[in-house]
Amino acid sequence: MSHPVHKPVIVALDFPTADAALALAQQLDPNECRVKVGKELFTRAGPQLVEKLIAQDFDVFLDLKFHDIPNTVAAACHAAADMGVWMLNVHGLGGLRMMMAARDGIERSSHRPLLIAVTILTSMQSADLVGVGLYSSPKDNVRRLAKLANKAELDGVVCSPEETEILKAELGDKFILVTPGIRPAGSVRHDQQRITTPEQAIAQGSHYLVIGRPITEAPEPMAALEAIQTRLIVNPT
Ligand code: C5P
Repeated sequence: MSHPVHKPVIVALDFPTADAALALAQQLDPNECRVKVGKELFTRAGPQLVEKLIAQDFDVFLDLKFHDIPNTVAAACHAAADMGVWMLNVHGLGGLRMMMAARDGIERSSHRPLLIAVTILTSMQSADLVGVGLYSSPKDNVRRLAKLANKAELDGVVCSPEETEILKAELGDKFILVTPGIRPAGSVRHDQQRITTPEQAIAQGSHYLVIGRPITEAPEPMAALEAIQTRLIVNPT
């Protein structure tokens, strides 16, 4: 039986404006969930929005997937840490030296967020990987990059629920696994190809679940979140 970590649900605030994101956040309880700010919202609303969410007591996962030369990524991670985010990420394909620089970057800040790596984007299939010169299977690429992230002493990776069991077996329980592609039983799958229920994802070893539309598009977002939390506690499978 797997037990979820404290506040395992990260609500993806995939909105085009600060007002829309804040209106949704107002309907959520920061004691019950964390929030994710991605590239669109950050590009439109910037650090001010992140700071507002933090001032409202939300833990913010800044999902910008930094991927650049080590010096630039270190500076970007330092800046994100200074903003006070709870978690941020870089792209594992930036390599070991880039990930080590990212870690050095956050250590320059007085605030130490969790630092994780994206491995292989779940939108990429085998043919896409071959196109960029990666000839092994998506799963092997994920394993290799997760090991590299671990070697760089990052805190964990974003991965699909299909990869959590093997990553947990190879890298241990402390290495944080964050999984999107989550749909409560019976909810709309939208554009997600392979979906897993929150209960299954936790049972398979995910620590944190990134969930967007099943919560943000619900008539009552907080009720949708609570229904998910209740199933995680009552039915940990
Ligand atoms: O609305 P939904 O639950 O599908 O949102 C999932 C969130 O997780 C979105 O912000 C999406 O960009 C992100 N994500 C994903 N698949 C990945 C990585 C991130 O769905 N492989």
